[in-house]
Amino acid sequence: MTATIIDGKAFAAKVRAEVAGHVARLKEERGLVPGLAVVLVGEDPASQVYVKSKGKQTVEVGMASFEHKLDRETSEADLLALIDRLNADPTVHGILVQLPLPSHLNSELVINRIDPAKDVDGFHISNVGLLGTGQKSMVPCTPLGCLMMLRDHHGKLAGMEAVVVGRSNIVGKPMAQLLLGDSCTVTIAHSRTKDLGEVCRRADILVAAVGRPEMIPGDWVKPGATVIDVGINRIERDGKQVLVGDVDYAGAAKVAGAITPVPGGVGPMTIACLLANTLTACCRANGLPEPEGLTA
Ligand code: GUN
Repeated sequence: MTATIIDGKAFAAKVRAEVAGHVARLKEERGLVPGLAVVLVGEDPASQVYVKSKGKQTVEVGMASFEHKLDRETSEADLLALIDRLNADPTVHGILVQLPLPSHLNSELVINRIDPAKDVDGFHISNVGLLGTGQKSMVPCTPLGCLMMLRDHHGKLAGMEAVVVGRSNIVGKPMAQLLLGDSCTVTIAHSRTKDLGEVCRRADILVAAVGRPEMIPGDWVKPGATVIDVGINRIERDGKQVLVGDVDYAGAAKVAGAITPVPGGVGPMTIACLLANTLTACCRANGLPEPEGLTA
């Protein structure tokens, strides 16, 4: 069997086009412009690349982009004061504080200062609790993107056996909650799981989010399973820098029914879902119906 390739790049373009359509209607019918504020503290090169890309895509879908670049030495009090101003600003519907923050800043304190209704990352403790109890929340972007791809490929997910490898707060745990919300039977596995290969081989849906290059070999994949590879790992191969996922793509693609490539799978969906979340936050803030198919 050769797996169907789930094209995240094309899917993300479709999501952005849908978001842009909603944004144009909001502007025309209500005079509303969804706004996303991104806060970057310091000069971490990877973070600078992400923030630039977020700003560009925000403007491309017709939203307002507010970038706040703060000095590495910024005090916690000054950062919290900025968040308070953004919370109070009616033109800002989404707030994202780029992580990681410099070590003198308490990330939990900072994230929990964001108004949960504007927390487009879904990292605020209120949103974590709402998601965990099956209530309406802001959902973290990467797992939301994975869920959209799975729903698109399978239709209904109810009754499927899902294994999530990785237990991070950003991907593994919310991914498991979303799959549970869609009535999958969910296992969260991790680096200390006994017989990890056996556990993975149970999966109709295998989500890999461990951050270790190619740690899941093809023979851990059940024939016909859908493999969602969240990993983005930079390694050197044949003297060249390449990006690989957490799954051995060549091996898994021979057995899986469908698989996301790296790059071009889950990666592009994350920013697309950030834009979807900003649109959702804007609709909720204005008492308007939420766009269909762009939320959990
Ligand atoms: N840094 C890397 N990924 C993310 C993300 O999804 N959100 C935020 N805020 N920071 C990140």
